[in-house]
Amino acid sequence: MDLQGVRHIAIIMDGNGRWAEARGMVRARGHRAGVDSVREVVTDCARAHLPWLTLYALSTENFKMRPALEVRLLMVLLKRFMINERATLMENGVRLITAGRIQEFPARVVAEIRRTEALTAGNRGMTLCLALNYGGRGEIVDAARELAREVRAGNLDPESIDEAAFAQRLYCPSMPDVDLLVRTAGDLRVSNFLLWQISYAEIFVTPMCWPDVRRPLIESALAEYARRDRRFGGVQGGGAAS
Ligand code: FPP
Repeated sequence: MDLQGVRHIAIIMDGNGRWAEARGMVRARGHRAGVDSVREVVTDCARAHLPWLTLYALSTENFKMRPALEVRLLMVLLKRFMINERATLMENGVRLITAGRIQEFPARVVAEIRRTEALTAGNRGMTLCLALNYGGRGEIVDAARELAREVRAGNLDPESIDEAAFAQRLYCPSMPDVDLLVRTAGDLRVSNFLLWQISYAEIFVTPMCWPDVRRPLIESALAEYARRDRRFGGVQGGGAAS
C-alpha cells in the first residue's frame, strides 16, 4: 500500500444496513460483517505504517436515535472487538484510543475499552482512534466549555486563545489534521464527523458499502488522493498556505 504521504485517514463507515438488506438479511448481519472490514482495514493500514486512522463507529445521533435493540447489538460487537482484537492490535503495534462521550455507554463496555487502551498505550505503530458516541459539534462545544472554565479560573487570557489553543482542548489533542476522508455507501455529506480536523481533507466517496471494503478500496482512495492538487488556500503548484 503506497500511502502517498498521507498521515491520517478518517473513514465514515456507512452502509452496513443496506449491505444486509440487499442480501435479504437482517441489519445486524451487516454490522457483524462490518467488524470484519474493520479488522482487515486496521491491519492493512498498520502494516503499511499509516500513522493515524480514525473510524466513525457510532455517532451521537446513532447512539440516541437508533432502535434500542440495534444499539445493544453495537455495544456487544464493540465489547467483543475490544476483547478479541487485543492480540492483533498488539501484534501490529497499534495504539487504540477513542473520541467521544463513551461515559454514556454501559460500564462493562467502557471497562473493556479502557483495558484495551491501557494495554496498547505503549505501542508505537499506528494510532487507531475509534469515534464512539461522537459528534463534531459536541467536540467543539466541549472544547469551548473547557476554555471558558480555564478563563473563569484565571488560568487563561482570552486574548491568547488561537487555533492551536483550541485544538489542544479537543478530544485527542495529538490528532493530526485529516488528509483523506473516505465515506462508504455513497452519501455526499460529512455527518458531523471531525468538523475541526477535516478543514483541508481531501474527500473520497465510494458507492461500496462498508462490509465490502478491503485493502483495494483504500488503495484506490490513496491513488485518487495522489491525483489531487492540495492547495490549502494557496495557488496551484505551491505558494504560501493560507
Ligand atoms: C453505518 O451503517 C454503520 C454504523 C452506524 C456502525 C458502524 C459499526 C461497525 C462497522 C461495526 C462495529 C464497529 C466496531 C469498531 C466494533 P448503517 O447501519 O448506517 O447502514 P445504512 O445507512 O445502510 O442503514
